[in-house]
Amino acid sequence: MRIGILGSGLMGGKLGTIFARAGHEVVFSFARSNDKLKKLARDAQGNGRAGTPGEAVKEAGALLLAVHWSRIDDVLKQAGDLSGKVIVTCSLPMDAGNTKLIVANASSGAEELTKKIPRARVVSAFNTVPSEVLFGVYEARRKASRPSLVYCGDDESGKAVAAELIRDAGFDPIDAGPLRIARYTEQFALLVGQLAYEGEGGPELAYRFERFGK
Ligand SMILES: NC(=O)c1ccc[n+]([C@@H]2O[C@H](COP(=O)([O-])OP(=O)(O)OC[C@H]3O[C@@H](n4cnc5c(N)ncnc54)[C@H](OP(=O)(O)O)[C@@H]3O)[C@@H](O)[C@H]2O)c1
Repeated sequence: MRIGILGSGLMGGKLGTIFARAGHEVVFSFARSNDKLKKLARDAQGNGRAGTPGEAVKEAGALLLAVHWSRIDDVLKQAGDLSGKVIVTCSLPMDAGNTKLIVANASSGAEELTKKIPRARVVSAFNTVPSEVLFGVYEARRKASRPSLVYCGDDESGKAVAAELIRDAGFDPIDAGPLRIARYTEQFALLVGQLAYEGEGGPELAYRFERFGK
């Protein structure tokens, strides 16, 4: 699949690299330095290239939206028409200092995003794990027990694409339901961040849900 990365920082750079390693064709876009995009493309070893957000959107089977909340309008404007596109967003609606959610409870970042691009197929995913764990999870993908990764959305075919990418990245996809469930997953992401960055043992942290009984 062709995957466009909108925001090639800690999350977008690493997930794009992982998607390329998993065999996808990746276009890295929207960093402040073009050299950084080119380096990411080089490191993707044949499956990556650098481009503008508009080029990332072209023929993309999925787009990963991975920018700070304050940059959303800017990147969407540069991306152009997103009608019908699967937008997997890991972006959290954080304030400028990354201290708190500025959308919560009665809505979520994912729902607010959908209001901006109502014709796109938005799926919320990858926002509940720190970037520091991504390569470790990918490298451990052949182990029997994979970490979970929750995702949610209102478009079933978009969710199927997201689930494939979650699996390719080495996680076990957990369908949490419709997009409004992002009200819970975005808050949960802050808990994971708290444990990763303030807890003992470092930020290479993932989680696993298990059902007991029956
Ligand atoms: N980091 C995590 O562990 C984590 C986990 C869960 C969710 N999230 C969410 O995922 C989203 C992306 O996080 P991230 O940590 O990957 O962020 P990041 O490292 O700051 O990456 C953001 C990308 O946007 C680019 N960008 C382009 N124009 C920019 C401008 N004017 N100002 C700032 N950045 C600009 C950055 O460019 P440069 O490359 O030049 O900096 C970078 O490539 C955020 O919404 C965050 O809340 C992050």
